[in-house]
Amino acid sequence: MLIIITKDYNELSKRAADIINIEINNKPGLRLGLATGSTPIGMYKELIKEYKEKKIDFSSVHAFMLDEYYPIKKSDKNSYYFYTHEKFLKHVNIKKSNLNILEGETKNPNKFCNEYDKKIRKNPLDLQILGVGVNGHIGFNEPGSSNQSKTRVIKLTENTRKINSRFFKHINKVPKNALTIGIGTIMKSKKIILLANGKNKASAIKHLIEGKIDKNWPITTLKNHKNLVVILDKEAARLIK
Ligand code: F6R
Repeated sequence: MLIIITKDYNELSKRAADIINIEINNKPGLRLGLATGSTPIGMYKELIKEYKEKKIDFSSVHAFMLDEYYPIKKSDKNSYYFYTHEKFLKHVNIKKSNLNILEGETKNPNKFCNEYDKKIRKNPLDLQILGVGVNGHIGFNEPGSSNQSKTRVIKLTENTRKINSRFFKHINKVPKNALTIGIGTIMKSKKIILLANGKNKASAIKHLIEGKIDKNWPITTLKNHKNLVVILDKEAARLIK
């Protein structure tokens, strides 16, 4: 595990974007897993800037969504589909045909998830970007998720719904379920970059770095990953010895 502690969120975002840039340049056709949430917004801004400065070309990149609420319409501004387009895709040259989405409108989520999982396991992602929940979830793999888990429908914890309700008009509007790439499938990624900023992530980060593998802290499974880069700001790193 490589741990990078940055001075602030801007530096964290820049470091993450720099690694992605290098990976894309090194591997045409890179398969890239995209996280959403507040954490990677700065990283996406930096990638867009580098794209506009012609320092990065996404034309051969294959992108994969990490998770999505369920059910939710693509046009809902809280869908991760909408987020991924608004914050990133519409500004860069990732081809539509190279975008793999988790479909929040599907009528058959189990079948959809099985097929999505097979697609990834057959040819694992080269680089997965992750944030982490206050409760240690990665993707929407909530505490208790198996470290072998596949892409599936998951019930969100009330805690996650409450934290994420900041983006919705009311907590009642936060979907009760989600689709997420499983932990077992995430672990197949050749490289993982995990980003965390802010003091409310410090406990999850301490579990990752100093704790044992524990189902109640899904992030701890990443300890076993051979090529994990953890990029933190000072606040997220504040509980590490
Ligand atoms: C989002 C995702 C989640 C978030 C986590 C932290 O695609 O997979 O695991 O990374 O909930 O969210 P923020 O960044 O909003 O604190």
